[in-house]
Amino acid sequence: MREDLKALREQAEAGLRKAETEEELQEIRTRYLGRKGLLTALLRNIGNVPSEERPQFGRQCNEVKESLSAGIDQLLAGLASSKREALLQCERLDVTLPGRGVRHGRLHPVTQVREEICRIFAGLGFSVVEGPEVELDYYNFEALNIPKDHPARDMQDTFYVEDNIVLRTHTSPVQVRIMEKRRPPVRILSPGRVYRRDSDISHTPMFHQIEGLLVDRGITFGDLKGVLTVFLKQVFGEDTALRFRPSFFPFTEPSAEVDIRCVMCSGRGCRVCGQSGWLEILGSGMVDPEVFKNVGYDPEEFTGFAFGLGLERIAMLKFGISDIRLFFESDMRFLEQF
Ligand code: DAH
Repeated sequence: MREDLKALREQAEAGLRKAETEEELQEIRTRYLGRKGLLTALLRNIGNVPSEERPQFGRQCNEVKESLSAGIDQLLAGLASSKREALLQCERLDVTLPGRGVRHGRLHPVTQVREEICRIFAGLGFSVVEGPEVELDYYNFEALNIPKDHPARDMQDTFYVEDNIVLRTHTSPVQVRIMEKRRPPVRILSPGRVYRRDSDISHTPMFHQIEGLLVDRGITFGDLKGVLTVFLKQVFGEDTALRFRPSFFPFTEPSAEVDIRCVMCSGRGCRVCGQSGWLEILGSGMVDPEVFKNVGYDPEEFTGFAFGLGLERIAMLKFGISDIRLFFESDMRFLEQF
């Protein structure tokens, strides 16, 4: 074999041994076998080879060309298969591993209680309405017979937005807004957020209430007792004992607070009921004639009753929760329990 061909072959073989990537192999192919490649150039110059050596030289050139080309193909194939192997390795799927479960969401305990109460009152013919959380002083206080500087405002630690605009301290203003718009009979239930400047184990600055109102001809305190009794027995159980206790609210007369027999101690007296055996559940009363006058209802023609209750309190008693703040911490470990 001529020296120049031999040197070229060794050089090419050394290149092949070093090549690690597809690109490097393709480069070698171009460098030696390409149209302007080194081996191609050698063959093209065959005229410079003495004529008696030419046939042998031509044959040898072709042999080198073929073996080089075959070597490159083989290495390329090897690279492709180890690439495929690596891909298969890293995409390996163990079908025997346990699956990842889908986490189920659920309703917040306060939402559950709200929906239950709305369902019960829907069965009694009440419809659900809503009112604004940013409320005029007029609806939150004045129209409900709580004039400016009335001591009853001390009960409401109010967030003021402006002089005459507040974050509503209760859902009672919805009564007034509805009565302004509708003529009796009125039978509404109004759930929603309310705000008071208060924060401890049983108070949060935002909490939820439901307001109820029924107005028609001939409604009596007996209707109030009947409706609230049916309601509370459905929420807390048929055997729940109730007590209607005289109270005062500026927007009702007479007014009553309703207690249930303590669900924790069945009336024996415990920490939750403050040893009294009773739990205060809601405020209620016959709508005050002053409120009717404010909305243009004739108190001689119509009577009605109203009530209001806190949803967190009901949820705490129903589910045995001792700190109201837990409702608003979004801790899954707490929420998952209900
Ligand atoms: N608004 C009262 C409160 O926030 C609850 C209440 C009491 C509502 C008596 C009423 C009612 O409609 O008649 O504490």
